[in-house]
This record gives sequence, C-alpha cells and structure tokens, in this order.
Amino acid sequence: MPATTVETPAAARMRNVHIAFGPREVVRGVDLDLVPGRVTALVGESGSGKSLTSLALMGLLPPGATVSAGTVEIEGRDTAGFTDAQWRRLRGAKVAMVFQDPMAALNPSFTVGWQIAETLRRRGTGRRAARERAVELMRTVGIPDAEAKYGAYPHEFSGGMRQRAVIAMALTLDPAVLLADEPTTALDVTVQAQILRLLAARQTDAGMAMLLVSHDLGVVARVAQDVAVMYAGRIVETGALDDVYTAPAHPYTRGLLDAVPDPARPGRLIPIEGQPPAPGGLPAGCAFAPRCPYATKVCGTEDPRLAAVGQGHEAACHHSDKVQAQATDVEAAS
Ligand SMILES: Nc1ncnc2c1ncn2[C@@H]1O[C@H](COP(=O)(O)OP(=O)(O)OP(=O)(O)O)[C@@H](O)[C@H]1O
Ligand code: SF4
Ligand SMILES: [Mg+2]
Repeated sequence: MPATTVETPAAARMRNVHIAFGPREVVRGVDLDLVPGRVTALVGESGSGKSLTSLALMGLLPPGATVSAGTVEIEGRDTAGFTDAQWRRLRGAKVAMVFQDPMAALNPSFTVGWQIAETLRRRGTGRRAARERAVELMRTVGIPDAEAKYGAYPHEFSGGMRQRAVIAMALTLDPAVLLADEPTTALDVTVQAQILRLLAARQTDAGMAMLLVSHDLGVVARVAQDVAVMYAGRIVETGALDDVYTAPAHPYTRGLLDAVPDPARPGRLIPIEGQPPAPGGLPAGCAFAPRCPYATKVCGTEDPRLAAVGQGHEAACHHSDKVQAQATDVEAAS
C-alpha cells in the first residue's frame, strides 16, 4: 500500500485478510492501510468483495461469514477474538460507517431530523443546539426546505434524500476511521461528487481516515488520494490515485478506467468483456485471465502476486510492464 511510504501510522490496517462463508472463500488475502487525513477508494465490479472487506473493519460481517485468516487492526489494536461488546464499543467511537442502503441506518419510527439531532445529543450537544445543527447539516447536504423536513419520517423521503440524511448523520461523528460504502449511488453524478467532497473534506481536515467503497472510478477520482482495485476477492492494484490513473499496471484497472465515460472523449466507453468468476469457480493461475487481452501461457498456471510497479504503486500482473507501456502510448496518442 502507498501508506507504507507515509509516516503517519495507519488508523486501520488489514494484513492478509481472508473472509469465507464456510468453505467458500470470497476475500482472499487483502492488505489495506487507512491513513489519517487520507481518503482511500476501494473499487471493483459487483461481487469483488468490497463490502465484506469494509464490514470486516467494523466487526459486522453477515451471518455465516468469518475472517478465516489474517489480521484486522484498529489504531494498532488487533481485533482477533473481539467479543460483540468490544466491537460495539469500537463502533461509533473509532469506526463508523455510511451504509449502501440508507434505510439500514435510519430508524423508520423516528423523524429524520430527530435522528440526526440525537447523534449530536449523544455526543453532549444541548437539545436546542442539536436541533439547530441538525437543520443546518440537512441544508448543507442539499435537503430542500430543511426546517420543514426536520419532522418528516424516513418513508416520506425519496431514496436520494435519505442518502443525504445519512451523510448528514455521518457529518456529526468523529471516528478515527469512516467507512462509506457506495454512499451516494441514488444521486446523480454531479451531486455525488459534491456530497462526497463535503464528506471527504471534513474527514481529512479532522485527520480521520476514510475508506470510500465504489464501483465508479470517475466519482472517486474527485475525492480520494489513494486507490485499491479489487477483483475476485483480491486487491490487484494499489497506489496513489494519480499514479494508478495515469499509469495503470493491471489490465483490469485499465479496463475499468476505459469504461469511465469521459465527457472530453465521447465514444471512449469500452466496457470490460465477460463476467468475474464466481467464488469457488476460480480459474487456475490469474483470476482475470479469461477476460484479459494481455494473457499469455504463464497467466493460466501462475497466480500473480502484488509487486512494485512504481513508488508506492503495486500491481498483481505478470505483464504489468506491457500494460503500463501501452497505457502511456494511448495517453500520448490522444
Ligand atoms: N450474506 C451473504 N451470503 C452469501 N454470500 C455473500 C453474502 N454477502 C456477500 N456474499 C458473496 O461474497 C462476495 C463479495 O460480496 P460483497 O458484497 O463484498 O461484494 P461487493 O464488491 O461489495 O459488490 P457490490 O458492488 O455489488 O456491492 C460475492 O460473491 C457475494 O455473492
Ligand atoms: S497476469 Fe496475465 S491474465 Fe492476469 S491480469 Fe496480468 S496479463 Fe492478464
Ligand atoms: Mg457492496
């Protein structure tokens, strides 16, 4: 991870983390460092293991899933063997999450404004000040007519407005690590970027670490400093966002970047062909080989591991030099 080149110790650290549902391994050896003051984007197609990786940082894996190997540390504390009570103490205080589904974070029985104010009151803010701050936060995240909407229930909000409310709630917290799992998918792209920037700016200004889970490389480009690209349960490329975006070294990253609609270059959208392998149905050698235009014989037999391709930049590909050379050619020609 690029974090190893940064002197600040990680607020959260994963080493060789495997997550399994019984014998079915869905996350296969992830290393991740979340550094105070930085936003790390975790990107990849659906099913690559992004949500489970972030849930493991909260001790909130779904029933049946376990961290079957590796270590998860929060502010230097190994969480192996943590009881439910120990995880509960950590959540909120040290690690908080903005969920993919806003209904999971909102209680249907209480008004939205009250719930935002309540998170402030729990942190010691007085009643009236909490109400005023909640209305202000609702306004900040673009909820129209915030004063009137304070007393509305979650079911009276649209999906997009609920996501904004959950982000307003996240703005009341000050954990060491904020995990945001697709927090803005119900919003249009311009608004997504605006809201994510707001969230990220607050986190980084306050010296908190943030993990932003997304399948949209265009959106994360506007807010993250570091990026980790996930494929079939592994991180296949990682580094500073600028380095990865300008010189991708893994064909999968290249494919994802080529699939980002670029308003400056209409017609450049090239989706990656094929589907990711199902967990348990992994091919021998490199998991990306069946979809990879660069694959050669070695790719069908030897599983590539992450290796340095630049300063703080790693990729797991036997032919990363060719991928980087070609990426540079394409940029130069365009
Ligand atoms: N509760 C569950 N029970 C069984 N399998 C699951 C469960 N949750 C996730 N999985 C499997 O684990 C793998 C990784 O899932 P995960 O939710 O982490 O993917 P993701 O990258 O977050 O995808 P998305 O972009 O769709 O949210 C997938 O193959 C998925 O089918
Ligand atoms: S190792 Fe081979 S198959 Fe895998 S991504 Fe690299 S070139 Fe493609
Ligand atoms: Mg997910």
